[in-house]
Amino acid sequence: MTDTLTMTRPDDWHLHLRDGDMLRAVAPETARDFGRAIIMPNLVPPVVTGAQAGAYRDRILASLPQDTKFQPLMTLYLTETTNPADVVAAHRDGLVSAVKLYPAGATTNSDSGVRDTANVMPVLEAMADAGVPLCIHGEVTDAPVDIFDREAVFIKTVLDPLRQRIPELRVISEHITTQEGVDYVMSAPENLAATITTHHLIINRNHILVGGIKPHYYCLPVAKREHHRLALRQAATSGDPRFFLGTDSAPHTDQNKLSSCGCAGVFSATNTMSCLAHVFEEENALDKLESFAALNGPAYYGLEPNPDRITLQKQPKPVSFPAQIPTHDGPVTVFDPGFDLYWSVVSNR
Ligand code: DOR
Ligand code: ZN
Repeated sequence: MTDTLTMTRPDDWHLHLRDGDMLRAVAPETARDFGRAIIMPNLVPPVVTGAQAGAYRDRILASLPQDTKFQPLMTLYLTETTNPADVVAAHRDGLVSAVKLYPAGATTNSDSGVRDTANVMPVLEAMADAGVPLCIHGEVTDAPVDIFDREAVFIKTVLDPLRQRIPELRVISEHITTQEGVDYVMSAPENLAATITTHHLIINRNHILVGGIKPHYYCLPVAKREHHRLALRQAATSGDPRFFLGTDSAPHTDQNKLSSCGCAGVFSATNTMSCLAHVFEEENALDKLESFAALNGPAYYGLEPNPDRITLQKQPKPVSFPAQIPTHDGPVTVFDPGFDLYWSVVSNR
């Protein structure tokens, strides 16, 4: 039985770090195990210019020890007034790695997002020409569409038409949660990829709703039926280069989660690598964890894998993690996979 796994240091291709006190509390949780992360721009107000991305990057680095090797990879929040030339320049100058499309109203702080993709075509065309990747939150927001169908409907009515219109655009379908999401990526050319979160490999919608409502499992896109979770597991553990880790770790204080109108987000930065090792071992695919968490993402983004390595070890007894991370605004609950974890990262920096 394998009980030690040494692999290239992983990266997180979809992460929320927030700002201020929350940033200072959560950034070390990611920087401990990960080399780089794609940082989501849904602050209030959102990160819309290269200068704002650069300033946010500096605040992230200032929240970590001076000798940190962690590299935040910044994104711009696409709005209907985004200037194509600004985006291309920010990417050319190395200030941003990608642009994020939120359909307006789809999720946390998405009000400034895109109402109609027709209104951002000039930006997307300029991005395709310049090779700037587009990260997409793939859910429609039309009120009549059932929340469990919003991803599949988005693929048919928004994503596919968009890709037909600009086939050269590099697109990352973020945090896919459905069989349809997996199938669509598999059917497309290599310039379409997808991130998969840790928690969507572990929970289905029953975990949220059976035996009492579990607000800490509520996120967007919401977890779907079991067969979708199994499709995600299959994709993540397949080694296929189009699928890679994006935790979507998204901190909200307990006060904001445990409310009559609770925020969407699962905070998994603290124990993601342990959870993933558990899942990949269950799928007899520990040898594919490195591709999923450390190799496929950099290859898609045109970067080298991290130069250093981490070691995970399977412990004889369950490993404990803090149940919560304290922040100035109140505690943030760490993702509870619902089973004991035995894998721990024993050497990182
Ligand atoms: O669950 C989510 N939380 N999904 C998102 O798309 C946004 C995120 C957040 O920022 O809290
Ligand atoms: Zn997200």
